[in-house]
Amino acid sequence: MTSDFLHLCQLRKSVRAFRSQAISEADWQYIMQCVNLAPSAVNFQPWHFYIVRDSHQLAQLHSCYPRDWFATAPACIIACKDIESQWVRKEDTKAHGDIDVAIAVEHLCLAAAERGLGTCWVCNFSTARLTELFPLPSRHVPVALIPIGHPETSGMEEPKKRKPLEEIITQL
Ligand SMILES: Cc1cc2nc3c(=O)[nH]c(=O)nc-3n(C[C@H](O)[C@H](O)[C@H](O)COP(=O)(O)O)c2cc1C
Repeated sequence: MTSDFLHLCQLRKSVRAFRSQAISEADWQYIMQCVNLAPSAVNFQPWHFYIVRDSHQLAQLHSCYPRDWFATAPACIIACKDIESQWVRKEDTKAHGDIDVAIAVEHLCLAAAERGLGTCWVCNFSTARLTELFPLPSRHVPVALIPIGHPETSGMEEPKKRKPLEEIITQL
């Protein structure tokens, strides 16, 4: 556990090797409460999260993103935007569902890290295969797959590679 947000940000990193140990119900409750507290445009909360824990369904999901490491996760979340309840800016018709889902998913990843769990954003999956295998309501469009579980390694072996602050900030 940590109470320091900077430390938590350092702790959260993409985990690509998991132990088979199941995630406790207390951890699921905690993480999903944190997800539910994410902000969203006009508070529309245009999201839905499908939790996959069944081994047969996990194997099906693996075919949408066929990487060996992905198959080690004991659970995976299909994070969807709800295209029927997302806020659309009138001026330029920009839909904000992706932004809202991204914030909620990062709540998920940070909360998981705080509980000692690992996650990894996966967007490079086959949307066609996913839709074929998991016929979700058409309003729920998958944005990311988030494998989740107890990390095989501590995850602190390598420092994070980031641009220097001076490169990403301009004082206007
Ligand atoms: C929107 C998004 C999509 C990503 N998609 C993938 C992916 O398909 N496969 C993968 O292995 N990692 C994916 N990542 C993880 C990034 O590679 C990772 O966050 C980045 O290299 C920084 O490393 P860190 O998460 O350990 O800090 C994705 C991350 C984000 C935010």
